[in-house]
Amino acid sequence: MSTLLKATDVVKHFRTGGHAVHAVNQVSLEVRSGETLGVVGESGCGKSTLGRCLVRLTDLTSGSVEFQGQDITRLSRRALRPLRPAMQLVFQDPYASLNPRRTAGDAVAEPLRIHGYGDAAAVRNRVAELFDLVGLARAHLDRYPHEFSGGQRQRIGIARAIALDPKLVVADEPVSALDVSVQAQVLNLFADLQEELGLTYVFIAHDLGVVRHVSDRIAVMYLGEVVEVAEAEDLYAAPAHPYTEALLSAVPEIDDGSGTPRRERIVLTGDVPSPIDRPSGCSFHPRCPAAQPRCRTERPPLRQTATRQVACHYPLTP
Ligand SMILES: Nc1ncnc2c1ncn2[C@@H]1O[C@H](COP(=O)(O)OP(=O)(O)O)[C@@H](O)[C@H]1O
Ligand code: SF4
Ligand SMILES: [Mg+2]
Repeated sequence: MSTLLKATDVVKHFRTGGHAVHAVNQVSLEVRSGETLGVVGESGCGKSTLGRCLVRLTDLTSGSVEFQGQDITRLSRRALRPLRPAMQLVFQDPYASLNPRRTAGDAVAEPLRIHGYGDAAAVRNRVAELFDLVGLARAHLDRYPHEFSGGQRQRIGIARAIALDPKLVVADEPVSALDVSVQAQVLNLFADLQEELGLTYVFIAHDLGVVRHVSDRIAVMYLGEVVEVAEAEDLYAAPAHPYTEALLSAVPEIDDGSGTPRRERIVLTGDVPSPIDRPSGCSFHPRCPAAQPRCRTERPPLRQTATRQVACHYPLTP
């Protein structure tokens, strides 16, 4: 499978009140054409910031991002413009990104108009087609955002994102704000659109339950760093990083009657450390049930093992 997006040593620091917040720290990742790469980790670990770096909605502090073989790290706004349609973001809260005074039809037409899709009739036809694609009724084209349910509003957000035939969609917790019953419908829509349109996804979530069914591979983040990357199947069958194991133990399991013992829930002690004050050595060491003295002083690099990449001195799986 070819590489669509390649991030190398991506760093993003924010300066706030004299402190440097290390939101994303030396992240290297590849996203392959046609796959879904899940990105998971607790709130505040840098997922959204990384997502915005990947599509250059924010400038990197250092490191680089290549999209379709082109280095986009330092392209100007103007040079990025022709690439924008190909890289799109779906937000967690579509309501916040929709103008309450514009109809759903207008919201979906906006990216088409901005990028000169065609005349009014062409735009109207495309908007109607997009409504069909995302499962919205054409009769609702003239409704306002507040007249839709949360799930329908997310469909409007998705229609906007796919309007210009993107290659890559970064979906930032797109179902986190939705009721559980609606989550499955929206996840199915993502899967259908991927198949129909050949999309590549980076799918961000804060728990492993949501990404399980949509991801081919999963990257686990902790305090701005990627600590494990593996095929979804391998990761769920046997996590290698103690943090992945803890996250996984929090996912409710369905008893399939096979007699396989259920995973014991691991409760992490201690607070999530602040990205202003990163612990020495392995940043997970103050909360890690498997920590050894070496973990306090020596930072484990992300390294390739037989089945995955993992940043731990004592991985649970070879
Ligand atoms: N614009 C910003 N200015 C200052 N700090 C920020 C900004 N955006 C994010 N951060 C900080 O960076 C860290 C990572 O945030 P974020 O990427 O939103 O994490 P996540 O999406 O995993 O919850 C947090 O500590 C957050 O407070
Ligand atoms: S390096 Fe040490 S502290 Fe870090 S995850 Fe591995 S065992 Fe735990
Ligand atoms: Mg976020």
